[in-house]
Amino acid sequence: MNVRVYKNADAIGAAAAALFAAQVIAKPNSVLGLATGSTPLPTYRRMAALYEEGAVDYSGVTTYNLDEYVGLDHDHDQSYYYFMHDNLFKYINIPEEQIHVLSGMAKDPAEECKAYDAAIDAAGGIDLQILGIGRNGHIAFNEPTTTFPPTTHIVDLTESTIEANKRFFASADDVPRQALTMGIGSIMKAKSIVIIATGADKADAVYAMINGPVDPQCPASVLQLHPNVTVMLDEGAASKL
Ligand code: GLP
Repeated sequence: MNVRVYKNADAIGAAAAALFAAQVIAKPNSVLGLATGSTPLPTYRRMAALYEEGAVDYSGVTTYNLDEYVGLDHDHDQSYYYFMHDNLFKYINIPEEQIHVLSGMAKDPAEECKAYDAAIDAAGGIDLQILGIGRNGHIAFNEPTTTFPPTTHIVDLTESTIEANKRFFASADDVPRQALTMGIGSIMKAKSIVIIATGADKADAVYAMINGPVDPQCPASVLQLHPNVTVMLDEGAASKL
């Protein structure tokens, strides 16, 4: 793992957006893996700025998002589909048909998950994947468990994740209890990965990811086994290393 510590979240956003820009300039039809959460927002703002400045053309890019809440449709302002359009896609020029987010309203979630993995494979796999990390070490919605899930699947969210994400909803009761998520195996297939963490409340998870055993109890620890991972941290998130 290539671990880098930055002064603040904006510096991380600039560095991560530069990785995306370099990827897209080198390969205009790149397949990008995108994440939600508050952590990638500075990255998305900088990606939009690079488009605005004419530095990067995203028109050939295809995207796959990591996860989606079960039961929220695209118009729900807490769905990840909505989040991605609101925070990135409306500012850049990726054609809508090249944007992919799992459907939380799928009648057959198992089929939705299977088709998603097949579509990523058919697109040639993800070139560059951005990840955040949950306080319990989750990546996407792969919660701590006993084995690393290989494929996209449906999950029950843990109390820790519901608690962390309730700030976006009217109350904890409004947070969906399930999600569809790319599996750990799906994520590990990405050719390169950048994982970002900011703030001292992520310091324990970051420590376990980098220095702990490779253990599905800390799903992010699997990244120790990936050949091309960049970890971008602010001083708070790096404070226990
Ligand atoms: C959610 C998402 C994750 C994200 C995590 C951390 O649970 N499914 O992909 O990494 O939250 O979010 P934040 O960046 O807001 O701390």
